[in-house]
This record gives sequence, C-alpha cells and structure tokens, in this order.
Amino acid sequence: DIKAFIFDLDGVITDTAEYHYKSWQKLADEEGLYFNREINEQLRGVSRMDSLEIILDGKELPEDVKKEMTDRKNNYYQKYLKKISKDDILDDMESKIIDLKEQGFKIAVASSSRNARKVLKNLKISDLFDTISDGNSVENAKPAPDLFLHTAEKLGVKAEECVVLEDAESGVEAALAANMIAIGVGPDDRVGKAHLVFSTVKEIDFEEILEKI
Ligand code: G6P
Ligand code: MG
Repeated sequence: DIKAFIFDLDGVITDTAEYHYKSWQKLADEEGLYFNREINEQLRGVSRMDSLEIILDGKELPEDVKKEMTDRKNNYYQKYLKKISKDDILDDMESKIIDLKEQGFKIAVASSSRNARKVLKNLKISDLFDTISDGNSVENAKPAPDLFLHTAEKLGVKAEECVVLEDAESGVEAALAANMIAIGVGPDDRVGKAHLVFSTVKEIDFEEILEKI
C-alpha cells in the first residue's frame, strides 16, 4: 500500500532550471568554459559539484579551485532565489499536495539542492511537508538511492510504500534504485524509465497514479 509521496523540488514544485542556467552560464563565460542550454539540461537533479564536473568535461582542476567556482555559481544563483515567491509554485501543485495530505498520505521533499529549504521558504510551503531532505542530508547524491531511503526512514515508511515524483533522469534512477514507485515528469528521453510518465507538471493526476500502480 502507498503511504507516502516524495516530491523532488526543482522542476516538480517550482522551475529553477533557468536560474541555474543563467548562473552556470555566467561562471562558464568568466572561466572560458563551453556551456549552453543543452548542457544545462543534463544538470537537472545533479548535485552542484557533479554539475561542475559535467561542465568541465574532463578538465582537471585542484579541489580548492573547483570549490571556489561552485561557491561563485551559488552566489549568482542565490541572487535569483531572492525573486522567488508563492507565484512560482508550478500550476496547482500546492492544492494537489494539500489534497494528498487530507487523504492521509505522508508528504516529503527530497531535493539534491542545498538551497531547497530557502526555495521552500520563499514559496511559503515549508509547513506542508512532514519532512524535508536536501543536498546536505546524505553523502551520495542522486542517482544513488540514499536521499530517498533517508526520507522514507524519516517518514517511518518502507521504500515500497513510497511514490517519488521526479523531472530528472538521475532522480528517476535514484527512485528505482531505492525500490520506490517512480513517476516521471517530462519527455520520455529524460524520464521514460519511470513506472508512469506525465509530460508536464500540470498533467500530473494523483488519482490516476493511485489507480495504476
Ligand atoms: C537540483 C537541480 C540541479 C542542481 C541541484 C543542486 O537538483 O535540479 O540543477 O544542480 O539541485 O542545487 P544547489 O542549490 O545545491 O546548487
Ligand atoms: Mg528536479
């Protein structure tokens, strides 16, 4: 039986991909690194340092130099985060989550972002969730199952009782590796490995999810 819904944040509850893109682009321009929107798409659900490694594309740099670059990117990103408000919640996600809570399901956020709590605070929905796991919660980032398993443990439910909503390939892989039900949001070439796919956030239908799984 399904007891909990675990939500990814960026790309499922709100769309921060454009802000991540602009911040990485600024860093890449400063460093003379090749970057574009297509590469940015590969960074969905990928941790900050793993994202830099993708942009560096095999180029080796000392740890302290990489740390400075990710800090700089994060400073740019945090400036954009100040602009986020309740209006940035995607479609009717808030009412859908409230509906699930009223049906008795446990609700959590499990995001790779170290900024997740700040984003939720600006969206004014932190209190909706029974637990929030973020990029600081576990050592191994998605596609490792650790963040989702940690979340299930905090909720006091078994992995197989959890449904995960994800817009990233790495996130779908992490949910499957955790032995959870994976719901993909986005194109098949990105989230097609999920048990069930909706092409946009707007189309997510929780009744259909509960019927089909
Ligand atoms: C989310 C986003 C990724 C981002 C990651 C880390 O998963 O989809 O694009 O790289 O969080 O975000 P952070 O806020 O910790 O830099
Ligand atoms: Mg995401």
